Amino acid sequence: MIEKINDLLRRVEEFKPKASAEIEEFRIKVLGKKGELNALLEEFKAVAPEMKRELGQKLNQLKTRALERVNELKQQAEQQPENQKTVEDMTRPGSNDPLGTRHPISLVRNEIVSIFSRLGYTVAEGPEIEDDWHVFSALNFPPEHPARDMQDTFFIEKNPDILLRTHTSSIQVRTMENQKPPIRVICPGRVFRNEAISARAHCIFHQVEGLYIDEHVSFADLKQSILYFAKECFGENARIRLRPSYFPFTEPSAEVDVSCNLCGGKGCNVCKGTGWLEIMGCGMVDPNVLEASGIDSHKYSGFAFGMGVERIAMLKFGVKDLRLYFENDIRFLQQFESVL
Ligand code: DAH
Repeated sequence: MIEKINDLLRRVEEFKPKASAEIEEFRIKVLGKKGELNALLEEFKAVAPEMKRELGQKLNQLKTRALERVNELKQQAEQQPENQKTVEDMTRPGSNDPLGTRHPISLVRNEIVSIFSRLGYTVAEGPEIEDDWHVFSALNFPPEHPARDMQDTFFIEKNPDILLRTHTSSIQVRTMENQKPPIRVICPGRVFRNEAISARAHCIFHQVEGLYIDEHVSFADLKQSILYFAKECFGENARIRLRPSYFPFTEPSAEVDVSCNLCGGKGCNVCKGTGWLEIMGCGMVDPNVLEASGIDSHKYSGFAFGMGVERIAMLKFGVKDLRLYFENDIRFLQQFESVL
């Protein structure tokens, strides 16, 4: 009997079906009710008691192995492409990949750029890794001047002259170095400050800087340009007010508030009851800044302004936590393309 068992085990191992139907035939032949295994089990009943232990174990092994082998072969057969019976419906409409949406910060930056391009501004860009000259010195921040502390700077280790730009005003300097007046540029870009991340501040954010230099540019031109921007960006009823302020690179300097577009100026929790929202800094370019970049300050004058894109986007969309712009949660990001 032991030979019969070994013989069947060998045939189980060596069985190679030519077609998948043969596997089922083989299964019935070996493991079926009237199959070879059951015949052996029948024979086993009559075996002498001292042989039962050894033969019983052998039979069990044979059965387990035969089942395993049949399953293996069936699985292999299913993976053969000719057995994958998927019938494609060739007339079915194709599936469209869903279109993405633009990031709200990109949308607002593009809108700001487009508003100023209607006033004749062109886009200028500059590097994010800058040197002290373009971020501070040429903008009238003397060394050791406390105004440098207004912006917490990331310096590149070992070389304090190389830093991540803290504002896009550095692009002003690069533009004045490379172009002759009249200059009218709008400079969008990413900026970096060593600040703790909170609902109102981030270490990476975006600014748009504007610069206009020509003969006889006046503060009235500045005010009118910003009023135009405010109306285009926040609606026809928007009003602006300028508060005196200080920046090293402009003199005089001002901070610009726009009337709160949520309450129309009556006062609400977004404008903290004041009716006004701060949107940018601005001023007449300091003659020192013009001279540092090789522009004759007796012949030319100009104005500059700078605003935070995240801030404008928060005010436009009523977003209260700036961190949402950086978390890339699609449910948040998808909401804006249709609003603008
Ligand atoms: N660079 C300033 C900042 O990051 C913003 C700014 C203020 C830019 C006044 C200007 C300006 O051009 O005139 O806080």
